[in-house]
Amino acid sequence: MSDLPITTSQLPLRQAVTELQPSAIRAFSAAVANIPGIIDLTVGEPDFNTPDTIKAAAVTSLEQNHTHYPPTPGTAELRQAIAAYLNEKYDLNYTADQTLATSGATESLWVSLYTITNPGDEIIIPTPAWPMYMSMVKAAGAFPVLVDTSSNHFVLSPELIEQTLAEHPNAKAIMLNFPSNPTGVTYTRDEVIALANVLKQHAIYVISDEIYAELTYHGRHTSLAELLPDQTILINGLSKSHAMTGWRFGMIAAPKFLAPSLIKVHQFTITAVPYIVQDAALAALTVGKNEAEPMLAEYKQRGALVHERMQAMGFEALAPQGVFYYFAKVPAWLKQTPSEFALALAHEQAVAVIAAESFGPGAEQYFRISYATSQDKLQLAMDRIEQYLADHRG
Ligand SMILES: Cc1ncc(COP(=O)(O)O)c(C=O)c1O
Repeated sequence: MSDLPITTSQLPLRQAVTELQPSAIRAFSAAVANIPGIIDLTVGEPDFNTPDTIKAAAVTSLEQNHTHYPPTPGTAELRQAIAAYLNEKYDLNYTADQTLATSGATESLWVSLYTITNPGDEIIIPTPAWPMYMSMVKAAGAFPVLVDTSSNHFVLSPELIEQTLAEHPNAKAIMLNFPSNPTGVTYTRDEVIALANVLKQHAIYVISDEIYAELTYHGRHTSLAELLPDQTILINGLSKSHAMTGWRFGMIAAPKFLAPSLIKVHQFTITAVPYIVQDAALAALTVGKNEAEPMLAEYKQRGALVHERMQAMGFEALAPQGVFYYFAKVPAWLKQTPSEFALALAHEQAVAVIAAESFGPGAEQYFRISYATSQDKLQLAMDRIEQYLADHRG
């Protein structure tokens, strides 16, 4: 019937969506997944199972028929628990009405960006950074301002943020993440204080993604929300600390004036986090609040193992300070880009690592290992990387 000049498939989509690239990490993992015996060190996925007390809470939730629409921002009990958990762990001062339960930290990030940005706003992102940040900023119609931190051991120095703010005085927000995916670096308390001292002199939001805070190796994590409570949108979640990636639970704590707007966007986006997940999260944040401890101890050992082996092989990398990411430079003598290295390593030695080019300026020569896998597998992966180097040394 169509004498229309164009078909629906020719109608332009939202430009930002057309320009966005799918996740390079997931694409690479899928591409090498069928290599026989592959050891996959690509995705940031804990290899632990969700602790039993949390699973039991979900079963009880079902038995109680918590299968109806739940409250949009989270049940009163859950919001109280979010505030109490964050306050206790990171010395903060939130009340329940400042909190919001989201579908993973991913939704927390999206809701935060969507709420505060107008088209064309600039959002500062210190790099190397999780590529999703750049994609989300663009999807929200804003511009990422990427700041290379590689010359300062991947920490944003006060000088660098001053300089960036002088060049971008109207930047709407800065997105920070520590401990960092992909570098495994975190900030000392003094470094956080120095950064906060600069940021508090500017009208700029701080989106502080602290999803890995419980996986900090040396001492207590310092939250930017402690120092900048009126500017910070604090993001956290249970995916990594409680091995709950599949449950999709995240949380936001924000200044009082901002929370209702965040809740509005969350409502339009997903209505609410499923009741069962809210009930499981309540258990995680209360009786299960310290479930990360044994996992942290294990990740620490694995990080030390990887660092020792990689150092012995001559890789240039910093000792892990948190999470389960190891960020190393492809040796110059290999004369390979990280993408070439990762592909060849996967095919020749059946070890999958992530080439870091998509992590932004400062990451061009690096690759990332996710060591959220057993020590036996890690030893084997290290043996294979060693063999790869021997084969290519000529
Ligand atoms: C830095 C960072 N923030 C947020 C997320 C998303 O976490 P969630 O599973 O809670 O959506 C990830 C996941 O890998 C991440 O690396």
